[in-house]
Amino acid sequence: MSAAPHSASRITQVHAREVFDSRGRPTVEVEITCTSGHTGRAIAPSGASKGRFEALELRDQTASRLGGAGVRQAVANVDTIMAPALIGLDAAEQDQVDRRLLELDGTANCSRLGANALVAVSLATAHAAAAAQGRLLVEHLYEVWQKAAHGLPTQGRTRTAALGRSLVMPLPMVNMISGGLHAGKNLDFQDFLIIPVGANSYSQALDWIVTIYHRLGKLLGERGLEGVLVGDEGGYGPRLAANEQAVATVVEAISACGLTPGRDVALALDVAATHFTEIQDGQFGYRLSAGGNRWLTSAEFIAEIESWTRKYPIISIEDPLDEADTAGWQAITPRLHNKVQLIGDDLFVTNPQRFEALSGQGIANSVLIKVNQIGTLSQTFATMRLALAADYWPVVSARSGETEDATIADLAVATGAGQIKIGSVARSERLAKYNQLLRLEERLQDRAAWLGGTIFTGLH
Ligand code: PGA
Ligand code: ZN
Repeated sequence: MSAAPHSASRITQVHAREVFDSRGRPTVEVEITCTSGHTGRAIAPSGASKGRFEALELRDQTASRLGGAGVRQAVANVDTIMAPALIGLDAAEQDQVDRRLLELDGTANCSRLGANALVAVSLATAHAAAAAQGRLLVEHLYEVWQKAAHGLPTQGRTRTAALGRSLVMPLPMVNMISGGLHAGKNLDFQDFLIIPVGANSYSQALDWIVTIYHRLGKLLGERGLEGVLVGDEGGYGPRLAANEQAVATVVEAISACGLTPGRDVALALDVAATHFTEIQDGQFGYRLSAGGNRWLTSAEFIAEIESWTRKYPIISIEDPLDEADTAGWQAITPRLHNKVQLIGDDLFVTNPQRFEALSGQGIANSVLIKVNQIGTLSQTFATMRLALAADYWPVVSARSGETEDATIADLAVATGAGQIKIGSVARSERLAKYNQLLRLEERLQDRAAWLGGTIFTGLH
């Protein structure tokens, strides 16, 4: 359907401002107003452990102000370049707005206008359209997604066949212990997470997670290892002797809560290997510091990760290898894809072209979905559609730099992605999303399915 000439959701105003994220770094907020007078607002998130192939986040580089991290140029790009081109378009026609944004930018990685500017405008458009139509954001996003996902095979044969076709309350993948770039590199691996696969509702899943999180904090405290600090995503940042100790301690915390590791609550890792890659003599390798200084080849590192999957109930591993270690990914995928969800984050960077090229080589079986890695909602939906068509699990994800913007909660439910990764259950920029999901669960009731851990049926 094309825009009705007197549509209530026609864009009349687009305005950006610089605000601050959870790390106290500047970011872009955009407000879009429609003919109806309704306004939609969104804020761009920001990553720390970014992938090399991500869309570019525009920063002012003026060292005299905010250490060069200011986003005044990106803000000006919204007000002076995007606004005049968007006024008059129908905010409900997300694909038209996004196409216009990409035309205006004209680069492959949003480097002219900035992905931070594009993502804030793209998401604010959806908020404005929902408000102008008097609908919930989740309902509007569902419609936009359904349009983008048109033609997705509906046969029940693939393992992701239950996803993407209806509203689904997502299974949360939650950070318990942080390392890597998010917690002063006290551990090499970035996230040690849990997935409450046995929970029978989103709210029960969250209850379990919060209980385990506090039990883990107590456990670390009793060992004199108290988290003292939490990392950028709210996970504890203890000084453990080795990466494996983090895994073992999380298992202990699950059991201490009377839950069964594996059956009730499984483990997940975000290795974020890109950030400790060390190439030697042209060969990819990984420099591990926690628990002794070691350099492992890709093959040795894969063997080590595989040995963990035999010892611990690990059901999901993100970025086990460098974003460019294609041979490593080709080696690990056939070895683990039947028992573990292998997520590409820095690998795919939510980019439909990269996803198509790499998934065609049989790499990974899941894709992390971060709107600001690619720039617009429409491109994000294109990647999600490709993922489901190729039988890859999509996991909607926050960034380490977040704000009160909770759009991804509605996005995860609307797209029926089945999973969401937001960080831990501390720090309000994280809870903004978990709490929004509680509201959606209450509001939508039976209209949103709970698939829980059943989405992993087929992994053994
Ligand atoms: P980032 O980390 O937002 O710092 O990139 C999140 C992740 O790696 O999943
Ligand atoms: Zn990651």
